[in-house]
Order: sequence, then structure tokens, then C-alpha cells
Amino acid sequence: MTEQGDKNMERFAIRGHICYSEDQKKIRTVDRGYVVCEEGKSRGVFETLPEEWRGIPCRDYGDKLIIPGLVDLHVHAPQYTFRGLGMDRELIDWLNTHTFPEEEKYKDTAYAKKAYNIFIEDLLHSATTRACVFATCHKEATLWLMKKMEEAGLAGYVGKVNMDRNSSRGLQEESAQKSAQDTEAWILAAAGLTNVRPILTPRFIPTCSDELMEKLSELQKKYRLPAQSHLSENLSEIEWVRQLCPQASCYGDAYRLHGLFGGECPTIMAHCVYSDEEETRMMKEQGVFIAHCPESNVNLASGIAPARRFLDQGLKMGLGTDVAAGTSLSMFRAMAMAVQCSKLRWRIQDESLAPLTVEEVFYLATKGGGEFFGRVGSLEPGYEFDAVVIDDTMLRHARKLSAKERLERLIYLGEDRHIQAKYIKGKQVLPIEKNCR
Ligand code: GUN
Ligand code: FE
Repeated sequence: MTEQGDKNMERFAIRGHICYSEDQKKIRTVDRGYVVCEEGKSRGVFETLPEEWRGIPCRDYGDKLIIPGLVDLHVHAPQYTFRGLGMDRELIDWLNTHTFPEEEKYKDTAYAKKAYNIFIEDLLHSATTRACVFATCHKEATLWLMKKMEEAGLAGYVGKVNMDRNSSRGLQEESAQKSAQDTEAWILAAAGLTNVRPILTPRFIPTCSDELMEKLSELQKKYRLPAQSHLSENLSEIEWVRQLCPQASCYGDAYRLHGLFGGECPTIMAHCVYSDEEETRMMKEQGVFIAHCPESNVNLASGIAPARRFLDQGLKMGLGTDVAAGTSLSMFRAMAMAVQCSKLRWRIQDESLAPLTVEEVFYLATKGGGEFFGRVGSLEPGYEFDAVVIDDTMLRHARKLSAKERLERLIYLGEDRHIQAKYIKGKQVLPIEKNCR
């Protein structure tokens, strides 16, 4: 058995002020409680350590806060290089002016390695324990990203992007045939990875021909892979899709017609800013996960997604940073932006949809997004042991705050430097042991 395997078999507990989401309306806190990990899974949160685990190793984090790891349902790794730059355009213009030219550079694997190393290091030092990542259409660089993420102890899905039309000359794949061939070669090459798994990633309908979508659907069935893409983000994009796919009843239907919209194919669709009743119903029926990316939607002036409506209607949903349309990898920031944007939408656009609450955004960033991975996003028994230990002592206060108040402040004020330790699937990935670097 590997060293990592041995570690995962270990039973241990960590102790501190524990907060996790029970459901969309309730955060449970246990002061100076214990979370027990066995074989990479949580055995639950306890006020006192039950008899059967007395004597197991216990790391006591004192007054620190312990929360489930945060889940980023939508992020573009190659775009991390231009975060905070070029926000002066809307989606299609932004893709053509800033995004495609940058992604072209990942054809050069040496450049990709340099850039991806920075992304991985920053993701590792964030509170994110799971991510669904878009790479580029280049299979070598994508595979390298996956291997390095796995080596760093990260977990999630990474997609080699597919795009065979309406892209820049230097980025567009030669043909649907070549795109599918490269995708299959990449899937097979990624077979040895366990924690960072492949996910089919047609970029969005405008850059994927019908022939390519059909081929991806075949690969989906053959290898039983999940899928991720973009949906109803921007009004001009939606109009473009209407022209490209007149046979589809809505944008989501253009994916569904090719079998890449939930159902047998677990799917994440980012944005859904303009999903109407029909599209929403289709997502619900098909069990499609929505990646709500509020910061991106502000930066590209796309709009504000009706997250409250999706929650109330029982859709599956999590949060995404959508770097580089979102500037930051911080899921704390994504939670804060989700609350703030929902307030603006409520005030300016639609008074029928009440703002999101702290409980709701914490749920979305943990259990909501975590569900895409199975039992992830909580510290309840049976959930994979993804946890973050937070030292917020530098956020000084004149009185003693409750664990719930401290969590609420972190949503607005939390930064990477507050993270003291991080565990993914029961393995401690932060702090990095010096002799491992
Ligand atoms: N739609 C298609 N590609 C992209 C992308 O890279 N970012 C965003 N925000 N939307 C997209
Ligand atoms: Fe995106």
C-alpha cells in the first residue's frame, strides 16, 4: 500500500469550533467539538469524543474554526494568468480579445507548466478542496495540469476543452474528428489518476459543431464521464445560439438534443443568468447542476442570475469563481458576491426574489456544489473528509464572537492567510511539509 493509502486508513480526529451546513436554512456549530476521520471519510461531529475513538490521534486546533472544504464548481485554470485584466468588454468580445489569445499559448507546454504551477499553488493555498476546472483544448498541457493537481493533493474534475468552430485560428481544433480523437486519447491517458478525474468540456454551443457534440456524446456513453459547459450567460450569446440551433427550443435544449444535458450524464452548466421557465424545468428534470458565478456575471456585465428562484424550485446548485471572468479564486468572495448580487437583483430588478442569506450561500459553497462529487461538502457521517481549519485571530474584535458570527465574518473577510490547515479526502494537504517541496 502507498504511503497515501496508509494515511487514509488512519483514524484520527481534529478538534476546534466546528461549523457545517445541515441544510439550506441551518448551520450547525459545535464549540470545541471533534470531527473523526476514518479511511478518508468523516464519522461525524461530536461534542465529546465517543468511547470507541478514545485514544486515536487527535490534533487540537484550540479556538480555531473548522469548516468543510469549499467547492468551486466552475473555474478556468489557463485564465488565471489574466485575472483582473481586460474587464472592459462583454462575453463574446472578451473571449475574442483576451481569452482565446491567452489560451492559444497553452499549445506551448513549457508556458502551460509555468502558468499552471502558479494556479495550482494558489488553489492549494485557498479554502477550496474540490474544483471543476476548464483547461484548454491542448491535451498534453491538460494532462500535465491534472497530474500536478493530483500530486499537490487536490481533488476534482478537469476538462480538456472542445471547440471546433467560431474560435480564433490559433485555438480552434482542426475538425470535430480531431477534437474527439484528442479527447479520447486524453481520457485514456488520464486513466491512472484517482483524485483528479476527466470531465467532458464542450466550451459552449457557439464553439462546438453538431458533429462534435455527437462525438462527445458517444464518448460520454463509452466512458461514462460527466460534462460541464456554459449556459444562458449573455443575451447576445443566447441570440447566437438561437440562430445556430433553430431546432432547439431553448439554449439548454441544444445540449439536451445531443444527450449532454444531465440525465445519464451528470452535468454542470455555468451561469444560467437568463434561463427561462422552460430551461429551468428542463434542468430540474435532468438533474443538471447550476454553477452560479456572481462575480463573473458582474465583471462581464452579463446580469444577475435568479439564484433565489433556482433554490426555491429545488434545482441543484453550487458556486463558481469562473476565473478569469471572476477575478479571484476565493470561494469566500464568491459567497459574499452571491449575497450582494442577490440584494441588487431584488432591489433593482425583481422584488419577488428575496436576497440570499448567509446560511444559503454557505450551503451552496459546501453541500450544494459538493453533491456533484457524491457525499462531499459536509462533516456529517459518511461524507468525504474535506476540511479547512481557519485562524481568524487577526480579524480582531473587542468581544468574544460565536462560531456562527465568526463564519459569517469570514464570508466577507476571509483570506488565504487565515487558513491554518486543509484536509482533502482525509489527507492533510496544508501546511505543506517542508521536506515534501
Ligand atoms: N463561455 C464560453 N467560454 C467562456 C469562458 O471562458 N468564460 C465565460 N465566462 N464564459 C464562457
Ligand atoms: Fe466559464
